[in-house]
Amino acid sequence: MGRVLVTRRLPDGGLDPLAGTGHEIVGPNPDDTPYTSDELRAFAGGCDAIVSLLTDKIDADVLAAGAASNGGRLRVVANVAVGYDNVDVAAATAHGITVCNTPGVLDDTTADTAFLLILAACRLASTAESDLRSGRWSGWGVTQYLGRDVHGATLGVVGFGRIGRAVARRAAGFGMRVLHHARHDTNEPGYVADLDELLAESDIVSLHTPGGPDTLHLIDARRLALMKPTAVLVNTARGTVVDELALADALHAGRLFAAGLDVYEREPAIEARLLSAPRTVLLPHIGSGSQATRTQMATMATSAVATVLAGGSPPNVVIPDL
Ligand code: GLV
Repeated sequence: MGRVLVTRRLPDGGLDPLAGTGHEIVGPNPDDTPYTSDELRAFAGGCDAIVSLLTDKIDADVLAAGAASNGGRLRVVANVAVGYDNVDVAAATAHGITVCNTPGVLDDTTADTAFLLILAACRLASTAESDLRSGRWSGWGVTQYLGRDVHGATLGVVGFGRIGRAVARRAAGFGMRVLHHARHDTNEPGYVADLDELLAESDIVSLHTPGGPDTLHLIDARRLALMKPTAVLVNTARGTVVDELALADALHAGRLFAAGLDVYEREPAIEARLLSAPRTVLLPHIGSGSQATRTQMATMATSAVATVLAGGSPPNVVIPDL
């Protein structure tokens, strides 16, 4: 029977698909701290499977340690996330190690979070609540906390996969005009081939691309400058998609109305200038964080492990970009 490293604590029920399989489960740390790179490498050398989180860097060294060519027996890495920019998929593929993720089960929950940020950022909810909590609210005033309307606004969705589409569906209920940009023409109403044009046209921009090198700083200082000064930027994708310092500069300078972020370039470190930026709603990467969805993500990952170790092929295998 196999040995499965589970790097971090999973929601209740997350390990159910491995129950009764006879596989030995190792990890996580009792206090749930992430393993270091050295620890991950050492585990990889003696495991058949790894159930990882996006906080684990499953890089070429970790994968090489588990590779059959180096005496290892690692067959599958199942990441409990739809994004897999923390896993070197090309290196895994070169070693014959399968990579799995959790597509499909978190689209609506993540789209709900995007809408939470759209609403909260447009209506200055964080600033208003923090004033109230700290005793700075002196009573109702007709000119206080004047935000931007979400209903009727033009929403630019960048990246039109499952989550981007789920956000667009919600926007229809708010009477919004929805534009979208994707690398390939969707042939659907609202498609804008030129990202710059979408940014210039939109009142609210919501990001839904994958992370990784292809989208690194897709929203940089030049592109932020194309946005309306009344516009709002929301990111529930990956922190690396936005140049955080450039965004902080734009917010401090009033060149952008507001921002709502759930993801950061160097999590859990948050850029100081972003923390002090005005009209900014900051969440700690809770996009898919409902009890039901996180449980589904965990069971999807662990059942992929059970399937691969039983010699089968799960539906959620990541196809490497060649
Ligand atoms: C969360 O960020 C995920 O990729 O599932």
